[in-house]
Amino acid sequence: ARPVAVLTAAGSGSRLGADVPKALVPLVGEPLVVHALRALVAAGVEHVVVTAPADHLPAVRAACAVVGGAQVEVVAGGASRQGSVHAGLRALPPGPGDACVLVHDAARPLAPVGLLRRVVAAVCAGHPAVVPALPVTDTVVRVAPERSDDAGERSLGAVDRTTLRAVQTPQGFPRALLVAAHEAAADRAHDEATAATDDAALVAALGHDVLVVPGDPLALKITVRHDLAVARLLLEESR
Ligand code: CTP
Ligand code: MG
Repeated sequence: ARPVAVLTAAGSGSRLGADVPKALVPLVGEPLVVHALRALVAAGVEHVVVTAPADHLPAVRAACAVVGGAQVEVVAGGASRQGSVHAGLRALPPGPGDACVLVHDAARPLAPVGLLRRVVAAVCAGHPAVVPALPVTDTVVRVAPERSDDAGERSLGAVDRTTLRAVQTPQGFPRALLVAAHEAAADRAHDEATAATDDAALVAALGHDVLVVPGDPLALKITVRHDLAVARLLLEESR
């Protein structure tokens, strides 16, 4: 079976601070969500459910309508990313439980098709959860949990960076397993503070191994204005 996907685009983008939700912010002429959708189509995804802010459904539908090559459906997301992914999974048409489902963020518009194919291939090879990730390049320190004073926080020393990875999307799973993981998790966490930020964590909570495959610097997440500027430069460079 061809892969299917949930594309999360229901966030507000509060840290970006644009006057439209982050997924609709333009990058070299097209909204972020359209860039991410094109990558999924290029990777052979057959059906995509896009989660959008409930008050921007028509705008997200109109943006996604320019992309052909896959069945695309736009539904209202939830209060957290986890809730949005769950809503997206429920909106997928019936299909084989062992098909690969990709969960991708509209906030990662430049994730290259090679990265998507790596994730799909690993799921098809039998891995129950696959995440792309990159080594951490900064020195990372742990800080004391007590409240910091005005001058700063107290460092408890550096963490061993060589065993740390920064996780990206898309993440891939056998569809039935991801649905089961979300159903189990829906009984636990709901609000933005306690919800999982990552789907692999939900599958890991069921006792499955998570495979980490090489990520790609192009799959950077757009969080603040600086990231948008970097993405624009990278896109212009690659054209
Ligand atoms: N997302 C979603 N539903 C939510 C929250 C987030 O579908 N309730 C999606 C976002 O649209 C984004 C991805 O999850 O594609 C990653 O979230 P993040 O980068 O945090 O985006 P926002 O929540 O929109 O940004 P911010 O946290 O700055 O408000
Ligand atoms: Mg957020």
